[in-house]
Amino acid sequence: MDTFDAIKTRRAIKKFDNTYKMSDEQVQSLMKLTLLSPTSYNQQNWRFVTVTDQTVKEQIHVAARNQAQPLDGSLVILLCGNMSAWKDDPMRYWKNHPLEKQEHVRDAMHKKYSDSPQNRRDEAMRSCGFAAQTIMLAAKQMGLDSCPMVGFEYDEMAKIINLPDDHIIVMMIVVGKAASPAAERGGQLSLDEVVFENKFD
Ligand SMILES: Cc1cc2nc3c(=O)[nH]c(=O)nc-3n(C[C@H](O)[C@H](O)[C@H](O)COP(=O)(O)O)c2cc1C
Repeated sequence: MDTFDAIKTRRAIKKFDNTYKMSDEQVQSLMKLTLLSPTSYNQQNWRFVTVTDQTVKEQIHVAARNQAQPLDGSLVILLCGNMSAWKDDPMRYWKNHPLEKQEHVRDAMHKKYSDSPQNRRDEAMRSCGFAAQTIMLAAKQMGLDSCPMVGFEYDEMAKIINLPDDHIIVMMIVVGKAASPAAERGGQLSLDEVVFENKFD
């Protein structure tokens, strides 16, 4: 499948085939591809909780207000942001580059994030957003389907996955085989409404 087809055929699936199970290799390869997603300063501030255990999936299903996807999908991924990534041995993010570069990035990140919870949170949202799209498009290439989700009780979910204090949950993605196709698209806005040439009118 080429990239354009993956983009066009990815849909938010509501009904997954609960008999389909991804192999460990499939999960590994999906997550390895996900780690190639871009992050500012290459800080890789996402953390992923991959859930295949049926008991945990049942708990997630309840936290997700009984939505069926986490129960029936093969893999549930919680995309989380690590708010301490900017200071967690940051020179390792550029370990393949000269020391000067490593120090520059460490200092730049300190300046941007040390006094700003808002910047740390924004960065988690951006990084997880890119990772989310990587997951969903890579899943298509693997012959799989997905559903991005935020319809869940945050505190309940945090307890289920044992979320560390300095992390936030950004979203959940369920991956598996669709049991039935998505409904017709809701209706896309026109280019005219959302794309502006050079500047807003
Ligand atoms: C951040 C986010 C959260 C979403 N949460 C849910 C959800 O909790 N349950 C659900 O069924 N769909 C959820 N969706 C799916 C959207 O409704 C769907 O992406 C949108 O209607 C467009 O349809 P498409 O993805 O098939 O193109 C979510 C999508 C996004 C991007």
